[in-house]
Amino acid sequence: MQRATPQDFSRVLSSMCTEPHPVARTAAERFLATNPGDPATYETVADIEREVVATLGELVDLSEPAGYVTSGGSEANIQALRIARNRADTSEPNVVAPASVHFSFRKAAGVLGLELRTAPLDDHRANTTAMAELIDDDTIAVVGVAGSTEYGRVDPIPTIAALADEAGALCHVDAAWGGFQLPFTDHEWNFADARVDTMTIDPHKLGRAVVPAGGLLARSDELLDALAVATPYLESRSQATLTGTRSGAGVAGARAALDALWPDGYREQAASIQANADWLAAELKARGYPVVDPELPLVAAEIPEETFEALRGIGWRISRTASDELRVVCMPHVTRETLASFLADLDEYDNT
Ligand SMILES: Cc1ncc(COP(=O)(O)O)c(C=O)c1O
Repeated sequence: MQRATPQDFSRVLSSMCTEPHPVARTAAERFLATNPGDPATYETVADIEREVVATLGELVDLSEPAGYVTSGGSEANIQALRIARNRADTSEPNVVAPASVHFSFRKAAGVLGLELRTAPLDDHRANTTAMAELIDDDTIAVVGVAGSTEYGRVDPIPTIAALADEAGALCHVDAAWGGFQLPFTDHEWNFADARVDTMTIDPHKLGRAVVPAGGLLARSDELLDALAVATPYLESRSQATLTGTRSGAGVAGARAALDALWPDGYREQAASIQANADWLAAELKARGYPVVDPELPLVAAEIPEETFEALRGIGWRISRTASDELRVVCMPHVTRETLASFLADLDEYDNT
């Protein structure tokens, strides 16, 4: 059998995933053959999943969280909108979100038969006046992003939650990437800051768990119950998840990473990756490139197209925003040395 070696992270600047914490790797391997989708058979991993949800609740200031470990942020976003749709009483449901929402909301709209209405942005952040104009009697959910995929921006979550409340709609916050950074900032984004109903927060991004470990949290069991279907051949009565058989490895890895890092390890990580992003932004600005200020550890900058291609050509895994800016996600594996070496190559390849 051909043995392939997974690529290392030394030149990966474009990913929202990172090297898992070593304890997460070990735990994941031990639980490879378990299935939290059948909790009456695989009781240990089901207990571990409850612990993960409880700790994620602590991260987001929610004392009695409902939820589960999803396959990722996409599933969590789909499921959050499915909760809203299953509870709503309209034949033409719509969801209002800022234009910065992750593309998984388009999948959700397609799968669930929802109209996704996206509002223009203000400095890469939700413009809540524009969002308010899109809300009507058929709006079932209003969405805010706490750490956007392209620019790492945090929407005004309390205002978005108030809009949802006024409309009698659910408020969903997508903190898939930002959720492990934001507890150490002064942003208002979580369940204590606003009347948030559901949230996406992914251990397999900044949480240092192994893939797959996303997270869906809901304010109450009653909300999660909107997803439940009966499970006749299992000993458990019902299932709220989207997939059936799920990864015990993801769940156990998440538990191990959370045990090792919450809160002090994540606090240190947050400070160090933000410092790296601020340093990179300052270095790029000093070279004359227009830079979008990194509110969270993600830097976007305009560099010439040929330079971008040349840097990819020599192995830098970099990506572009929809507006063609260079996008560097300062994940924990992206060290200051890596960034310095990237800048040295940028200096060499930018001939403009
Ligand atoms: C804000 C946000 N939400 C959702 C997702 C989707 O997560 P996943 O790729 O784990 O499904 C991403 C992915 O980067 C994201 O940045």
